[in-house]
Amino acid sequence: MRVLVIGSGGRESAIVYKLAQSPKVEKIYAMPGNPGMAAYAELAEGSVTDFDRILEFVNTNAIDLTVVGPEVPLCLGFADKLTKEGHPVFGPSARAAQLEGSKAYSKAFMEKYNIPTAAYVEADKLEDAFEAIRKFSYPLVIKADGLAAGKGVVICEDEETAKSTLKEMLVDGILDGAGSKVVIEEFLKGFECSLLCFCDGDTIVPMVSCKDHKQIFDNNKGPNTGGMGTVSPNPFLPKEISDKFDDVVLKPFMNGIKGEGLDFRGVIFIGLMIDGDDIKVLEFNVRFGDPETQVIMLRLDSDLAEIMKAVAEKKLRDIEIRWKDETACCLVLASGGYPGSYKKGIEITGTEDVSDEIVLLHAGTKLSDGILVTDGGRVLNICATGSDLTEARNKVYEAAEKINFDGKYFRKDIGLN
Ligand code: AMP
Ligand code: GLY
Repeated sequence: MRVLVIGSGGRESAIVYKLAQSPKVEKIYAMPGNPGMAAYAELAEGSVTDFDRILEFVNTNAIDLTVVGPEVPLCLGFADKLTKEGHPVFGPSARAAQLEGSKAYSKAFMEKYNIPTAAYVEADKLEDAFEAIRKFSYPLVIKADGLAAGKGVVICEDEETAKSTLKEMLVDGILDGAGSKVVIEEFLKGFECSLLCFCDGDTIVPMVSCKDHKQIFDNNKGPNTGGMGTVSPNPFLPKEISDKFDDVVLKPFMNGIKGEGLDFRGVIFIGLMIDGDDIKVLEFNVRFGDPETQVIMLRLDSDLAEIMKAVAEKKLRDIEIRWKDETACCLVLASGGYPGSYKKGIEITGTEDVSDEIVLLHAGTKLSDGILVTDGGRVLNICATGSDLTEARNKVYEAAEKINFDGKYFRKDIGLN
């Protein structure tokens, strides 16, 4: 099988790393990829939003399967277009991708199919939005309807912040088109849990549980980031709760997929808030999570290429997916200043000094005159497995001291808080 992976982050690095273990995979290309991926894949020039380039590449290189990593090309309909040209794709159709691309669509979907979620109102006019917030107590949550690269959710502690946020999104257009409609919703308390599932539109298969650490500082303080580290299994998730996921979330979700006739062949990532025995869905993403994928791939025992092919061919029910009974940990090394502004182009040293028990995945790096330099907020993902959390953590934290770049920052409490 010849596989093309679209994307350049830690998530796509983990996918490429795992695909490279498959005896069925003859060649992997990553577009545009990153220097770390070059160990497993041939890097191909191109942008994740340039459909013509992707199609031309798929045709010239006889690609058997295209794996779309990020949400933007999915929302732009790249899976539909490739499928129409007869090319198998791992990634849902544009209609199905609205589950992530439009908060209003996903909330209406949840309401229609009885998927538990926070109470909400949608609005596209300021006066309607001001009227709507009177029905909520504080804190309340305001979400831009469209894709906003992680900047579209604001938790408002008081009416003044709520009103100014609504004005910024609906009138000032600070998020461009993404904020021309908003969802206002009830604030949920509890702890968050990422539930990722393979789904081919007929069958859904949950992956192992996982815990992301979204805030920048230890003890879950400070602003949200794309994710500062992950562990799998999720140490905070009781079995009595995960046993309910099928009935409470997955069955109604599949009723919705079938009821709406959505072509969903890829990964559905369900963000959950759990409070006691109450389970609510915060959001859907129509792609693998980053850095959730990094730990999940380390625990996957089955052949990822076989699973992806089965998903693309709607044959997921015919295969068995096995997991390693180990704990995996991923620590993100970030640029100082992230998630605010930070410098790029800083030399990275010590990547060769980490032990061979480490899987070192690149997230925001590039080569500049042959030297490895930082090229993003999240720079490197240090990943390892162990027989328990302590062993996995010890390995990644030992490696974190060996790699250096000016401004290197990482959380010290991944898996603990
Ligand atoms: P979303 O993109 O909808 O998942 O929102 C991003 C983050 O905002 C989530 O991971 C939560 O940390 C937080 N969040 C979103 N919705 C709510 C809510 N209704 N109550 C509390 N926190 C929320
Ligand atoms: N780690 C959160 C996400 O990928 O959306």
